[in-house]
Amino acid sequence: PSRDALIARLPKAELHLHIEGSLEPEMLFALAQRNGVAIPFASAEAVRAAYDFSNLQDFLDIYYQGMAVLQTEQDFYDLTWAYLERAAADTVRHVEIFFDPQGHTERGIAFETVLDGIERALQAGEERLGISYRLIICFLRHLSEEDAFATLAQAMPHLARIHGVGLDSSELGHPPAKFAQVFARAREMGLHVTAHAGEEGPPEYVHEALDLLQVERIDHGNRALEDPALVARLVGEGMTLTVCPLSNLRLCVIDRIESSPVQRMLDLGLKVTINADDPAYFGGYVNDNFRAVADALDLSPDAIVRLAENSFTGSFLPMADQIAHL
Ligand code: HPA
Ligand code: ZN
Repeated sequence: PSRDALIARLPKAELHLHIEGSLEPEMLFALAQRNGVAIPFASAEAVRAAYDFSNLQDFLDIYYQGMAVLQTEQDFYDLTWAYLERAAADTVRHVEIFFDPQGHTERGIAFETVLDGIERALQAGEERLGISYRLIICFLRHLSEEDAFATLAQAMPHLARIHGVGLDSSELGHPPAKFAQVFARAREMGLHVTAHAGEEGPPEYVHEALDLLQVERIDHGNRALEDPALVARLVGEGMTLTVCPLSNLRLCVIDRIESSPVQRMLDLGLKVTINADDPAYFGGYVNDNFRAVADALDLSPDAIVRLAENSFTGSFLPMADQIAHL
């Protein structure tokens, strides 16, 4: 109970959150009706019942399908605002959210429609909820590097509003090396860089994200633990890992929540953070993730505070702003 109280009031940053993955079944259903988009479900309950995944690809198939209801600037505003209200309730003070431009532009939705709606909500969140933000575009790794370059070109006129690039979607068979050139270009443009690696993919993909993409964070990174030399390197570099416990459970990256690597990572000296990934699909927001691992692993108050501290020092905020949160 006191552990729950600590989690409930602890200021935290969320660094691994796909805004499209915060689309709750109720909103999915409401937007389908508002926009006249046909979905193969009779109710929000039926949508939720379909969220039963045995791996990453299972989830991605449903996640991309769900995005189809997002059509207008107002839809992206409503989606993002709903997430920010949930984040505020979890005492989140700073968010660095991902969106997947290609998941929308390939459906004929303009890049600007997506960006404008998300950003308008983030600005309202800063003013009304006191939540600061950064915005990260993710390249879909199952698509080509040429496609990623086209997406980066679409972002070019909006560089004052976009802070970083990431890499998500189907990991196996799509190693970071495939995107070395476009990440180099993004870095030249002054963008922050991060990548999903070691969720389903082998430790080698984490090495590639570091060596070839020169990432500032590793999203997930679970499988880095299989490689002691890689662990030593991540510790030595103070690399932030954005771990997502309930996502790991629901995508069968771990067999039970007790198998979450969070305590092991802390013990090894890794800079681990706790995040929700796709909360509408994986059964919980950031505090649900904190509570799940704290209970399953019997985390100490010090460990819980460390996880929250890591979320600020692992953020893209300038040092002065990080310190202001601690
Ligand atoms: N992994 C890869 N791609 C994703 C994820 C994830 O956890 N969530 C949304 N896209
Ligand atoms: Zn993710």
